[in-house]
Amino acid sequence: MKVISTEKSQILAARIAGALNTSIVDVKFSRFPDGELYLAAGELDDETVIVGSVTDSDALVQLLLLIDACEGSRNYLVLPYMGYARQDKRFRRGEPISARAVARVFGRGAENCITVNIHESAVLKYFDVPTTNLSLAKDMGDYIMKMGLSNPLILAPDDGALAFAQDVACVGGWDCDHLEKTRLSGVEVKMAPKKLCAASRSVVIVDDIISTGGTIATATNMLYQQGATEVYAACVHGVLIGGAYVHLKASGIREVFCSDTIERGCSRISAADRIAAAIRG
Ligand code: R5P
Repeated sequence: MKVISTEKSQILAARIAGALNTSIVDVKFSRFPDGELYLAAGELDDETVIVGSVTDSDALVQLLLLIDACEGSRNYLVLPYMGYARQDKRFRRGEPISARAVARVFGRGAENCITVNIHESAVLKYFDVPTTNLSLAKDMGDYIMKMGLSNPLILAPDDGALAFAQDVACVGGWDCDHLEKTRLSGVEVKMAPKKLCAASRSVVIVDDIISTGGTIATATNMLYQQGATEVYAACVHGVLIGGAYVHLKASGIREVFCSDTIERGCSRISAADRIAAAIRG
């Protein structure tokens, strides 16, 4: 068995190879003069773990090329971050179900797929092959435990993220709640924990994805107004677009951290061991 990865998942792939005690395939990535993507894989094996987060359209195409390069091998496809998963239904007439389109394409050419905290688990049914969705909630809880916070409040930014937040909170037996938005006027909204009080507490806001960071930055300002002593933000997939990291830091967040499903400077949690364990079966 060997591990191979797209350009943007190299570090996680190397960690998975380490955890599986196997080698990683050398791949040369470049472009044709017209901008089309090109790759050439080194020595392959008859069993391959293909790792590629779909962070953008180039990453998607690179993953398609990699799967094709691994033709003839028994392939396990790992999608640490599955982009396009948020368009999981047809919200308006004429729209595609993008998550389905991506899942259908990637199901082919692999025996099994692995996703990590996919945005909407209903999407799993669109894969044509057996697909396992892993959760890093426990790993996030373990990281928070090491931070040594006293009696932290784990907060989901909305009720949709509450189940994930509860799994994180479970690790330390911490309090858990979700933020509730109340419209005060046409222009003013208030965000506060639904049941608990944030005053004099360390708060850790946890979510599957931080994209623009807009929701969490607004919530942070309000939590400080409500007397929170310190606010942290954690997510599995640090999409972090449009200056999200600095936006969050500027709102007074002490630490922003994510996993390596998208490789970032603030990736503090690795999905490698959990993925390797799922491959070992
Ligand atoms: C949405 O349902 C996701 O779970 C995240 O809450 C969302 O993507 C975060 O978006 P943003 O960082 O742009 O506020």
